[in-house]
Amino acid sequence: MKIAIIGVGNLGYSIAIGVLSQKDFKVKNLYLTKRDISSLSSWEKLPNVKISTENKKAVRYSDVVIIAVQPNQLQTVLNEIKDVVHPKKHTIISVVTGRKIEEIEGFLPAGTAIIRAMPNTAISVGKSMTCLSANQKGTENIELAKTIFNSLGKTLCIEEKLMQSATVICASGIAFWMRLIRATSQGAIQLGFDAKEAQELAMHTCLGAASLLIQSGNHPEQEIDKVTTPSGCTIEGLNEMEHQGLSSSLIKGLITSFEKINQI
Ligand SMILES: NC(=O)c1ccc[n+]([C@@H]2O[C@H](COP(=O)([O-])OP(=O)(O)OC[C@H]3O[C@@H](n4cnc5c(N)ncnc54)[C@H](OP(=O)(O)O)[C@@H]3O)[C@@H](O)[C@H]2O)c1
Repeated sequence: MKIAIIGVGNLGYSIAIGVLSQKDFKVKNLYLTKRDISSLSSWEKLPNVKISTENKKAVRYSDVVIIAVQPNQLQTVLNEIKDVVHPKKHTIISVVTGRKIEEIEGFLPAGTAIIRAMPNTAISVGKSMTCLSANQKGTENIELAKTIFNSLGKTLCIEEKLMQSATVICASGIAFWMRLIRATSQGAIQLGFDAKEAQELAMHTCLGAASLLIQSGNHPEQEIDKVTTPSGCTIEGLNEMEHQGLSSSLIKGLITSFEKINQI
């Protein structure tokens, strides 16, 4: 696979690392571009990696083009590359937040495969939950995007109309889960652990809980039933959290984020 990443900032950099470290497919060429390439000099030593400021050149020498610039930079990039994009050759993957497939189609030749991807910051540790949607032609090439992003975590194909919801649950979701982990740490400190121990306990219990669900396929309540002894301390604590609005405040926060993202 010949891949170009246009805009190697935080996200583009993580994708580049993931793509090079995976073993699921062979990367023949990886073209990395940004306007100031000084931060990418260490990549030049790698035999199959090319660094450039020339987006057109990167597209010409690639089959898969991942665009990872800021939303206000997208139009400039699309205008720059539109003449060298060929529908029979290229698959365009955009990770640009809030920019619709229809908008990207407006710049590129008719029939170009376009896939929109919404990863989260856990992509830098290969654990991103990435949602994908595509136009008609992109659907035919969706396996390509799944292969790339499955090497950087997990993917789910969704309808594009759910992209804003996915952004709240998965991208903003990182912040929500961080706050829950921090709150658990604060409780653990009050119960006698030092700050480092408290965070360790909170992080790994969170990881364990998610792993239990992933590996068993169980519903969370099935796992809760296993740890709530009748009249025990777990159900007493859990019910108190619900009396204080745990589930309700989380759901309200998600809905508020969603309402906000639709105004932006
Ligand atoms: N960070 C995340 O976890 C995350 C998650 C989901 C979606 N996203 C979306 O992914 C996109 C990138 O996010 P980010 O955090 O990686 O942003 P970022 O760090 O600002 O990276 C954008 C990069 O694009 C480069 N760039 C700007 N104009 C360019 C051009 N004309 N040609 C080539 N490169 C250009 C910039 O470098 P130069 O200034 O040197 O050109 C910069 O390194 C955004 O749209 C964001 O909303 C990010």
